Amino acid sequence: MRTIQVNLSRNNYKIQIGSGLLSQVGNTLIAMGFRGKAVIITNPTVRALYGEILLSEIRKAGFETVILEVPDGEEYKSLEWAGRLYNQLHDFQTERMTPVLALGGGVIGDLAGFVAATFMRGLPLLQLPTTLLAQVDSSIGGKVAVNHGKLKNTVGTFYQPQIVIADNSVLKTLPGEEIANGMAEIIKYGIIRDQGLFEIIEKNLDNLSAQNESLLEELIARCAAIKAEVVEKDETDLGPRNILNLGHTIGHAIETASDFQIEHGKGVAVGIIAAGKISRNMGILSQPDLERMGKVISEAGLPVRINGLKIADILQAMQHDKKKAGGKVRFVLPKKIGDVFISDEVTVLQVERVLEELI
Ligand code: NAD
Ligand code: GLY
Repeated sequence: MRTIQVNLSRNNYKIQIGSGLLSQVGNTLIAMGFRGKAVIITNPTVRALYGEILLSEIRKAGFETVILEVPDGEEYKSLEWAGRLYNQLHDFQTERMTPVLALGGGVIGDLAGFVAATFMRGLPLLQLPTTLLAQVDSSIGGKVAVNHGKLKNTVGTFYQPQIVIADNSVLKTLPGEEIANGMAEIIKYGIIRDQGLFEIIEKNLDNLSAQNESLLEELIARCAAIKAEVVEKDETDLGPRNILNLGHTIGHAIETASDFQIEHGKGVAVGIIAAGKISRNMGILSQPDLERMGKVISEAGLPVRINGLKIADILQAMQHDKKKAGGKVRFVLPKKIGDVFISDEVTVLQVERVLEELI
């Protein structure tokens, strides 16, 4: 098992990465000082694969436990489903120290995290991410949220988990498409901070499968370490943490404009290409680095362009970006592979020009 520490001003926690960790969660809860009740929030897909194993392990450790299910899909990351979960937590007579275990991908992590943050003004949260994307990104750093209408992640808060337990053996059941979605965030980390990581991805493009446990463990650990370091510097995303949003300004807008039919990883992939092209058009990113980015993204099974959306809808969705400051949309742009800069000066015209090539 690898352990990465996240040290924040108000709380510290561990990210554990390793094979078989889910079967130890009962003991982990005891070691963390929990007793009595525990709540698992998951979806039917993940429940069928890992819910019952987790439930029996936690019961064996002496906990009275319930599994709360949310249907599978981004559209259920909503206030309506948060409300349903509040009712079920009330029915279970949840107490303020009852831990909430978020078992699933980023959708479950964000929704269960939001519910844990708000029910009874905060229940202890354990993130048990089961997708590659959630293990490298969404389970770490405390961003929890629901979508509101067409607005992505608009209602939320920062609420750190007490531990992140990333059991990489569960990735074996992940469809190839979801491995690709996780790769979008891993490629992002390489571009923003870690040229060496980017080179590992380039060298292993033929081995990027859910069965390659040791490669995935290495990638997860490197990304988690970068995320921990960035979040430690800027927990509430007012400055340095913005770099984690490479590809997300246009990526989120693509997700929104597609009514969430295009998944987060795919939106981010096209968003990274768009950011690369904007930087290239400014004369900053080199053509060879832009081409390397495009090659890695497409060979990881991700799109480098998207058909069927209207540019006007994407521009409209971008106006709701949470990084907007003083009326200007903030962009993270690659300088070179391994380094980025932040710009508030990208014009609508510059964005339109690249979207015309990509949409
Ligand atoms: P997801 O949660 O929808 O999971 C993808 C699919 O994989 C689902 O169908 C799920 O049921 C299935 N699945 C999960 N684990 C599985 C397993 N081990 N085996 C087989 N199938 C499995 O999608 P995601 O890509 O994990 O997360 C996307 C969400 O994360 C978006 O809502 C995005 O906004 C959010 N996000 C949040 C942050 C953050 O910092 N909070 C960062 C990035 C993304
Ligand atoms: N996924 C972006 C962040 O956590 O800040």
